[in-house]
Amino acid sequence: MSSSLRRASHRSLRMLISSGPTREPIDAVRFLSNYSTGFLGECLAREAVRRGHRVTVVSGPTDRAPLARATTIQVERAAQMQRALRHALPRADVLIMAAAVCDFRPVPIGATKLARRGRVALRLQATPDIVAGLPRRRGQLIVGFALEAEQVRERAGRKLTAKRLDLIVGQRLNGSGPPFGRHRVDAMILHPSGQARELGRISKPALARVLLDEIEQLWYGQQRQSTSHGTRRLRGFGTRMGA
Ligand code: C5P
Repeated sequence: MSSSLRRASHRSLRMLISSGPTREPIDAVRFLSNYSTGFLGECLAREAVRRGHRVTVVSGPTDRAPLARATTIQVERAAQMQRALRHALPRADVLIMAAAVCDFRPVPIGATKLARRGRVALRLQATPDIVAGLPRRRGQLIVGFALEAEQVRERAGRKLTAKRLDLIVGQRLNGSGPPFGRHRVDAMILHPSGQARELGRISKPALARVLLDEIEQLWYGQQRQSTSHGTRRLRGFGTRMGA
């Protein structure tokens, strides 16, 4: 329904999508990272482009080719991803924070290649929580993800509030292994109201379609509501709407 609504009367959205892992250097030739491949971000970007939205992807290092019909900004470290998103967010309607940002970075132990030796201790420092700290404009929609080993609904719900999100996709880390690459994910979508939509095991292209439907419904629904009340469209959503 939302797609036909959009085609009928609504402008396309400016969508900013973060994707892929970050790499945090240990020395001149080594880094700390995770298994993210950027496939989820790519599915989201493809689906958004297919629907006629204007898409910018801020991508950590992956071996995937940038999409022809999107703008791609390539970054490596969490700090660079944070800078790129801060720069791009003011011109975006929607941010989908799909990147698997490294939660820790090594305190650098040398500018050159560390020589092999018996034992080396790494000290790790938390990276900034990028999405929680981004300055926002009223009315922007911010969507995050949470990968949880247990109590997915509760934990993802707490992150939704703490990170001031308008939607969060909770993913279960279960016996079938980490949800990286082309693996299906076991997911649910949570709203600030507590409303939850169980998706069960779902492919990433299908998850991208469902999530884009939810985002369009929120955005264009808000637009219709505001118009019918004679107010400006940009009133704020979700957690910030009641604030
Ligand atoms: O706290 P957790 O890592 O589970 O949160 C996941 C969400 O927060 C994702 O949307 C992820 O992109 C984002 N995140 C972030 N900055 C970090 C870590 C995660 O923006 N340093």
